[in-house]
Amino acid sequence: MTDLPPVPAAAAPAYGVGPWPGGPDAWPDDPRYDRQLLADGDRRNVVDRYRYWRMDAIVAELDTHRHPFHVAIENWQHDLNIGSIVRSANAFLADTVHIVGRRRWNRRGAMVTDRYQHVVHHPDVASLAAWAAGEGLPIIAVDNIGGSVALPAAELPERCVLLFGQEGPGLSPEALEAATGIVQISQYGSTRSLNAAAAAAVIMYDWCRRWAAPAR
Ligand SMILES: C[S@@+](CC[C@H](N)C(=O)[O-])C[C@H]1O[C@@H](n2cnc3c(N)ncnc32)[C@H](O)[C@@H]1O
Repeated sequence: MTDLPPVPAAAAPAYGVGPWPGGPDAWPDDPRYDRQLLADGDRRNVVDRYRYWRMDAIVAELDTHRHPFHVAIENWQHDLNIGSIVRSANAFLADTVHIVGRRRWNRRGAMVTDRYQHVVHHPDVASLAAWAAGEGLPIIAVDNIGGSVALPAAELPERCVLLFGQEGPGLSPEALEAATGIVQISQYGSTRSLNAAAAAAVIMYDWCRRWAAPAR
């Protein structure tokens, strides 16, 4: 089979929008707009209604209608999934992502979405659990282990912390101990598990299906 020629860089699609049409005289008089983006164009990975907005203005607007579920992920091995989970948490408008364990986490899969998402650190499960108890938030463990309830029949409270484990060991005994329920996603193939980021996306989608208003 003949190899296809490489696609020239110039043919690659440009994301986003160019400079605001009409130049500076036509710029909107609204402090949420970023003058640099108006001048240069906005190639960021943001939905169209936030085009040309300053980042802090976008975060402030998201903060007005964040969903009341939190996401927590154990981080004992610098898991590559964490960045992807942060990205999904942003997409599904989670209140906050809680990194449990090592403070440093692998940002690669986040694709800078962490700048729009509240992310906090807890050194261990005990401190996450203490924080959640103070907020009156039940912790729902997500793992496919004995005693877990299949997602369609499981409770996903409107206000809750959805807690995920890491590649390899899954959720720690301390995490399972801190949870009020365990939810699993049914599987049909030969692999023992999904990766944590895929599992997190499924659960967040299902939380939104149950509780969220239609997307704007
Ligand atoms: C790669 S899994 C590892 C642990 C898994 N219990 C096993 O037996 O292999 C890492 C994490 O992804 C999530 N996960 C993966 N597959 C899942 C499923 N089918 N249902 C619920 N959570 C899952 C859980 O949070 C889990 O701790």
